[in-house]
Amino acid sequence: MPSVSDKKRSAQPFELLLDQQTIQKRVAEIGDQITRDYADQTLVVVGVLKGSAIFLADLVRQIKLPVELEFVSAASYRKGTAREEDIIFSGGLQNPLKGRHVLLVDGIIDSARTVTTVMQRLQREEPASLEIVTLLDKPASHRTRIKIKYRGFTVGNDFVIGYGLDNTQRYRNLPFVGRLVEK
Ligand code: IMP
Ligand code: MG
Repeated sequence: MPSVSDKKRSAQPFELLLDQQTIQKRVAEIGDQITRDYADQTLVVVGVLKGSAIFLADLVRQIKLPVELEFVSAASYRKGTAREEDIIFSGGLQNPLKGRHVLLVDGIIDSARTVTTVMQRLQREEPASLEIVTLLDKPASHRTRIKIKYRGFTVGNDFVIGYGLDNTQRYRNLPFVGRLVEK
């Protein structure tokens, strides 16, 4: 259950969706799976800022392999009143990915447009392999076909916050995932 201090961190009411223990258990399972799947390999873990930051920090500590970290930024903005959004990619890649085993980490996949854009960009670097891991997935919202190798939890279309995910830059520091409740 969220504590009184957790509630103070969030100005808006929320409903608990995934508690800390549930998240940590699942993150450990995914870390074990990745450790088995990439046995004897060195992984390059690429985080999509900012939403993946908390998940990535916990996940990489559950991967018992040599791991290198890179980060990229992706932001979407709406073109006027149209539903279509442009994804702005800003690569922060400091080392070549050519011939490397790359794992792209996101916090949440909604329309899947962000992750698709980042994948296309990373593919150009000619990695030996490229897979996706996301803490949360909203499969009903996908608007492009995307193969997600590792997924923490499937959620509905509700807007969720916490554990790295924001609403207007707030709530990323909540240690659990909640659903915002309209006031
Ligand atoms: P996309 O629609 O898959 O391109 O997702 C774009 C971005 O929207 C994600 O990386 C998140 O930053 C954000 N996003 C989508 N759904 C949620 C949500 O429920 N909570 C917080 N951020 C979200
Ligand atoms: Mg956001």
